[in-house]
Amino acid sequence: MLKDWSEVYSIGIDEIDQQHRGFFNASHRLYQAILDREGRDGVIEAVGFMRHYAETHFQAEEAFMRAHAYPDLEAHLRQHGRFMRQLDALEGDLRTFGPSQQLADRALEMTQDWLIDHIADEDVLYALHVKSEDQSGQPRVTSRHPPIDPT
Ligand SMILES: [Fe+2]
Repeated sequence: MLKDWSEVYSIGIDEIDQQHRGFFNASHRLYQAILDREGRDGVIEAVGFMRHYAETHFQAEEAFMRAHAYPDLEAHLRQHGRFMRQLDALEGDLRTFGPSQQLADRALEMTQDWLIDHIADEDVLYALHVKSEDQSGQPRVTSRHPPIDPT
């Protein structure tokens, strides 16, 4: 189901929130292109637009996390990498089988629904890290990993 951007998806960092809105739009454009059976060229073009948008957004997030010395950067980047590989696999199937309702649904799930989960599970963590840094006036190392028990 297509979902509109909502404030509940905001992580409180304007630049990133704007990009997430754009990510929703790219996702919906891709879904619609597959659903409308725009023809192979139109569909592949929509995949290309989604890929370009995701790459640009992920690069911006990576630069932001590096600038704030986010400790779980590597795990976060692995998720972005997984997303790009799934997009490649989707493009391969679109080229092989052509557009279908099934592939439209898969595209929406792996872009829009993925993003919603990714924001809630991952992006909020670096936002919290940055906010805690702002409050203390200096970088604070946080990690979701439990401390190692020395005993
Ligand atoms: Fe992210």
